[in-house]
Amino acid sequence: MRKTGLYLYSKFERFWHWTQMLLVTLMVITGFEVHGSFKLLGYENSVRIHSASAWTFMGLALLSIFWMFVTRQYVNFIPSRANLNEQINYYMSGIFKGEVHPIRKSLFNKLNPLQKLVYFGLLIFIFPVQIFTGIAYMYYHYPQNPIDAKGFEIAVYTHTLGAFMVVAFIIVHVYMITTGNTIATNLRAMISGYEKEEDHEPKVENKENQENNIVNESNEA
Ligand code: HEM
Repeated sequence: MRKTGLYLYSKFERFWHWTQMLLVTLMVITGFEVHGSFKLLGYENSVRIHSASAWTFMGLALLSIFWMFVTRQYVNFIPSRANLNEQINYYMSGIFKGEVHPIRKSLFNKLNPLQKLVYFGLLIFIFPVQIFTGIAYMYYHYPQNPIDAKGFEIAVYTHTLGAFMVVAFIIVHVYMITTGNTIATNLRAMISGYEKEEDHEPKVENKENQENNIVNESNEA
C-alpha cells in the first residue's frame, strides 16, 4: 500500500472508521431482524448482538469525541457554505464529464461542503437519536416498565426511522467512495491513510487550504 502523498487519515481515525463500519453493519442487520424484516441469526441472537454492538459503538463514540477535540479534527465536520455551489455543480454535471474535483483536501479540510452537511447530520443528529432511543428501548421492561409506554412507542418509531436513515447514508456513502479520481482512490486512502496529490488538483482554491497545509509523512500520528 502506497505511503506517499497527503497523509489524511491517522491510525486512530482509520481504526475508528472501520470499527464503526463493522458495528453499524451489525446493528443494521440485527436491528432489522428484530424488526421482523428477515430471518438470519435468530431473534435472541440478534437482540444480543445488537446490544453488544450498541455498547461498543457508544464506547467508541466517546473515544472518538475525545480524539476529535484533542487533535482539533472536529473542524472537518463543521458545515460551511464555502464552495458549496461549485460542489453541487460538480455532482450535477462535472463528475459525468470527468472534470477534476473542485475542492482540494487537506488535514483540516477532508470533506467537501456537501459531505460536511451530511456527516454533521449523521454525527450530531442521527447517531445521538439512535443512542437515546436505543437506551430507552434497552431499559423498557415489561410488565413493570419504568419508561412511560406512550413515550416508548415514539422512541421505537424514531429508532426505526433513524435506522432507515442510516441505511440511506450507507448507500450514498458507498457510491461516494467510488467517486474519487479513480474508483479506488478514496478506499485506498482510508486503508493506508495517504492520498495521491494528483488525485485532487483543484479548479477552485478554497480558503481553508490557504490557511491550512499540505501534509506529508512527518505528520503521521
Ligand atoms: C446505526 C445504529 C443503529 C441502527 C441502524 C439500529 C437499528 C435498529 C432496528 C431497525 C431495530 C428494530 C426496531 C423495531 O422495529 O422494533 C432496533 C432495535 C433496538 N435497538 Fe437499535 N439501532 C442502532 C443503534 C442502537 C443503539 C446505539 C442502541 C443502544 C444504545 C440500540 C438499541 C436497540 C434496542 C435495545 C433494540 C430492541 C431490541 C430488542 O427487542 O430487545 N440500537 N435497532
